Amino acid sequence: MLKGKKIVLGVTASIAAYKAVFLLRLLQKAGAEVKVVTTPSVEKFVGELSFSALTKGNVFSDLWNEGWSEHVGLGTWADLLLVVPATANTLAKFAHGLCDNALTAVYLAAPCPVMVAPAMDADMYVHPRTQANLEILQKDGVHVLPVGDGFLASGLQGPGRLMEAEDILTAVQTFFGEKPLAGTGLLLTAGPTREAIDPVRYITNHSTGKMGYALAEEAARLGAEVTIVSGPTQLELPKNIYRIDVQSAQEMYEAVHQNLQDKDVVIMTAAVADYTPLEVSHQKIKKAEGDLNIPLKRTRDILKSVGAIKKSEQILVGFALETHNELDNAKKKLQSKNLDFVVLNSMKDAGAGFGHDTNKLTLLFRDEEQMSFPLKSKKELAKDILQQVIRLRKQKNNT
Ligand code: CTP
Repeated sequence: MLKGKKIVLGVTASIAAYKAVFLLRLLQKAGAEVKVVTTPSVEKFVGELSFSALTKGNVFSDLWNEGWSEHVGLGTWADLLLVVPATANTLAKFAHGLCDNALTAVYLAAPCPVMVAPAMDADMYVHPRTQANLEILQKDGVHVLPVGDGFLASGLQGPGRLMEAEDILTAVQTFFGEKPLAGTGLLLTAGPTREAIDPVRYITNHSTGKMGYALAEEAARLGAEVTIVSGPTQLELPKNIYRIDVQSAQEMYEAVHQNLQDKDVVIMTAAVADYTPLEVSHQKIKKAEGDLNIPLKRTRDILKSVGAIKKSEQILVGFALETHNELDNAKKKLQSKNLDFVVLNSMKDAGAGFGHDTNKLTLLFRDEEQMSFPLKSKKELAKDILQQVIRLRKQKNNT
């Protein structure tokens, strides 16, 4: 519940502005006190009366006519400035400190936290300027919500659709410390595996486990009971997370199946070796003349094995790291491993993937919905991924 929380809802001139009216009602029903700030052209999409009727007159739309000091007072009053929808233009102004209207002035003067839900055409969203502006905002501490991917008002298809109002409400509730995963058993895999060749050598990969560990920490913060089956990493975790350390793909397989019982959500981020030496030499292999061949055999696909026995109320999430045909390959994994959604990392993006603290992800769902996120910290992405887990949990509990 948002009882006692004060929210300034910033609305900008997007075709999705009508959804802000719906969100305003949801926030009020959840107990929040809401005041609205609009940019001048919002009037072209939704009449000010809609907002003023619902907020009993608490709308600030003209920097010059309504007491200029409002722009300072609102940010000080609010516990959160929530901008829905946020157009490319307003995001650009926020990123560069322009303040030529009521909302941009409130933003620049606001000491409170800020959350934005972008909405725009696909071409505008993927434009390098918009992406750079979103990165600036993230660095400034703004919570940038993901966009939906699909048909847009312009008739184009791609990323840029406003997040659904119910999901924005969940994001706000989570932000205010609600524990939407309380009572949820969550099993994670993380890190690389090590496949022994002999007592001193092994086959592994570049995974550091950062994404999986960020998910574990965030899920625990949201109230989940977290078990993590982890390959070798240098990372540490809070004590309220149950950690099982493993080395090989086979050990990870066994640990997952031993701990699967009663888990509501399973997220597999581990970079599991697909092949392991056919035989492990018990003595160190000594060098000799000529080349050395080490025969390899396939390991078991842990995620697929869990997908095969998944119960309808369980949520199963997999990761896909692709270098080419990314979307098609990720979609195949979604189907073949019986996942609720797949998290696609592209190796093409600078700052994304192994070892980085940031990542750039796309989520693909069974109903063909897609969600794209700008380059963000793995901690922020963990929140976004878990937000979708929360949404699917609610959906499954209601059916
Ligand atoms: N995975 C697993 N067990 C394996 C291999 C992968 O649980 N033996 C899981 C990973 O944790 C991740 C997803 O499956 O969630 C990745 O799947 P996939 O891309 O199929 O693994 P790759 O080995 O990269 O497959 P491919 O070579 O086909 O790209």
